[in-house]
Amino acid sequence: MKPLQIRSVAYSVPETVVTNQDLTKLYDTSDEWIYTRTGIKERRIVSGNQNAADLGYEAAQKALAKAGVNPDELDLIIAASSAPPNLYPAIACDIQARLGITTKIPAFDITAACSGLIYGMQIARGFIGSGIYKKILIVATDNNSRLVDWEDRGTSILFGDGAGAMVVTESTDGVDDILSIDIQSDGSIGEYIKYTMPGKTCPLVEPNDIEPSHIFMNGKEVYKFVVKVLPDYIANMLEESGIKADEIDYLIPHQANQRIIDAVQQRLGYPDEKVISNITYYGNTSAASVPIALAEGVEKGTVKLGSTAILCGFGAGMTWGAAIVRLREGIC
Ligand code: UT7
Repeated sequence: MKPLQIRSVAYSVPETVVTNQDLTKLYDTSDEWIYTRTGIKERRIVSGNQNAADLGYEAAQKALAKAGVNPDELDLIIAASSAPPNLYPAIACDIQARLGITTKIPAFDITAACSGLIYGMQIARGFIGSGIYKKILIVATDNNSRLVDWEDRGTSILFGDGAGAMVVTESTDGVDDILSIDIQSDGSIGEYIKYTMPGKTCPLVEPNDIEPSHIFMNGKEVYKFVVKVLPDYIANMLEESGIKADEIDYLIPHQANQRIIDAVQQRLGYPDEKVISNITYYGNTSAASVPIALAEGVEKGTVKLGSTAILCGFGAGMTWGAAIVRLREGIC
């Protein structure tokens, strides 16, 4: 396989902040309940016409600038989103147009929920590794605030909106930045988190319209499943790669629930400074949460570059995945 280089990681979040206290205007809840159960204090929410494609485009522009890659040099755009403004055209095609790319490169979306970035990285690795493409933009962007039921206090407390973007290329120095990567799914428990497309029935066949849709989540089952599977999954991945947990500098996990992050931290025996968490201020931004945590961590100084990290995601599908990566100087 040809080696892959992570050239840049960037993020974009909406300006509007919705605090736990704000949510008490919608239903019977409290800052204390939400914070204790999830670690979340506030989240960013889009307003007006802003959507996942806009956030993704902003993150993509920043990532391309950071990488020093001209949009016209790209061979492929992959957008990971489970809360796009349109089912089609794909966010990736929209971003291709907005970046002013006139070459007919492929651009497509993938739906792997909160595992979206890791799935995108694995797909990119396949294309770069085989020599089919050399420069790939991965955008991970979600706008779940438009899909949740704002009367459902068990689910709507969790989500925030945001986007991340990563530029990956064939390595310029022969060093591979992906030390290990794996993605998995189990469709038999897909009912745990579900969004059914709204729509209409053909009046010649059935009289009734389909009910308006929103995200359904069985939070308890998701929680139990992830806490059971994820810590061992990451520990096994390290073992199979012949890497000791203490050789890795950071764990940058999907930001779904602080208690889930704590469970993985405990399994790996990591001190707090190795575990990157910003769930308190962004909530669960789904596919975007890992790139936001990474790029914002670098901005704040909690992640030092010239290091290694475990990135991991999990979510609807159920899907999950992890990547052990090199974080080179200058990528954020
Ligand atoms: O990326 C997607 C991945 N998703 C996740 O990782 C979600 C994982 N799951 C979770 O984070 C947790 O399940 C939640 C935080 C969503 C919920 O916590 P829980 O401890 O599983 O709560 P629950 O749904 O079992 O509800 C416990 C009680 C219920 O009251 P009763 O029936 O015991 O009287 C709920 O009605 O808490 C009540 N409740 C609330 N109370 C105050 C549920 N939501 C709220 C709320 N404020 N927002």
